[in-house]
Amino acid sequence: MATKTRLLLTVAAGFFVLLTIQIVPYGRNWTNPPLIREPSWDSTATRAIVKRACFDCHSNETIWPWYSRIAPVSWLVRHDVDEGRKELNFSDWQNGARDGERINKLLKEITTGEMPPFAFRLVHPEARLSDAELRQLIAGLSATAQR
Ligand code: HEC
Repeated sequence: MATKTRLLLTVAAGFFVLLTIQIVPYGRNWTNPPLIREPSWDSTATRAIVKRACFDCHSNETIWPWYSRIAPVSWLVRHDVDEGRKELNFSDWQNGARDGERINKLLKEITTGEMPPFAFRLVHPEARLSDAELRQLIAGLSATAQR
């Protein structure tokens, strides 16, 4: 078989596989659950940073861009959103007493650079926080924990 034909067949096969996996139902639910209760933010600036860097996986205000609707990316995004909300959901915050405790745990995650996840920062420039923004975020969340 000529190299060109083989290349064409490979591309066609790849395209067919990509098309076929779109049938899988997992990852096709892009509706967000209702908003229940947010933490009592110390300022709108703190909320704005968290919204930029964390809300897509840790709130019920997830924005689902077009590529998040195409398998296999849709499967990864669905998994991140489900796991993320389970750990921490800024739209479904527990009341008062435990806020401080939860925020302290959260601060550890940010300061070690684990959140937001690396792959997310790659495709979301707005979630790449500068050192100054990171300091602002940490101060803001600490203040939120005191309220
Ligand atoms: C791309 C999705 C995504 C984004 C954006 C994201 N997270 Fe997460 N987060 C996850 C997932 C998935 C988990 C659960 C699995 C894990 O711990 O890695 C998680 C877990 C956590 C946990 C619990 C960790 C633990 O082990 O107890 C904290 C705290 C957290 N994230 C904070 C944040 C903060 C703060 C931001 C924003 C600065 C953020 N995350 C942004 C996906 C995300």
